[in-house]
Amino acid sequence: MKSTNLTWHEATVIKQDRRNQNGHGSCVLWFTGLSGSGKSTIANAVSNELFRQGIDEYVLDGDNIRHGLNRDLGFSDADRTENIRRIGEVAKLFVDSGKIVTTAFISPFRSDRDQVRALFEEGEFIEIYIACPLEECERRDPKNLYQKARKGEIKDFTGIHSPYEAPEKPELSIASHQLSVPEAVEKILTFLQEKHII
Ligand code: PPS
Repeated sequence: MKSTNLTWHEATVIKQDRRNQNGHGSCVLWFTGLSGSGKSTIANAVSNELFRQGIDEYVLDGDNIRHGLNRDLGFSDADRTENIRRIGEVAKLFVDSGKIVTTAFISPFRSDRDQVRALFEEGEFIEIYIACPLEECERRDPKNLYQKARKGEIKDFTGIHSPYEAPEKPELSIASHQLSVPEAVEKILTFLQEKHII
């Protein structure tokens, strides 16, 4: 249902003021990839390094957000779309607040990620594909979810009975089965430096 009788209120302190005060740009590092591909691990390692450098950052992580803000959502296609829509809106607020926000959600559908991209100004949405073959994710199986999915104990599991649509033109692609975590972090920070975000 669409809201009515609402008026947008322009803030007096704007995004660029916060960026100037922070001394760095703000953007969203949107990680996408299969369960077990390493999204959360790499996202948190990037966040640690940014924090160490005195950069204003924050991580939004799939499992954590599903405990609170999105606890009413499951894993049907429609619920995943709504999950990603809400996270996109939250990420936009963080970018407006002058932070570098890192998000670690499977975000399996290309159209959902493109809808989020459309919320942002040019250069603010940085899609990072954590490219790891399904066989390797299943071999790692850190939470035993693939095993449960194969036994039919979890339905709609991504990669098994629910699709994952890989990005066609991500800003960055990280082969997490070939790069170490520090190498992945370096690749992402180099990108941020080249774009003059940090
Ligand atoms: S999505 O598809 O973007 O809405 O998913 P996300 O919010 O990132 O949540 C993924 C984490 O939820 C756990 N989990 C499942 N994942 C995929 N499919 C099904 N059916 C499922 N059920 C529970 C799982 O721990 C995912 O975490 P990661 O870190 O990706 O392994």
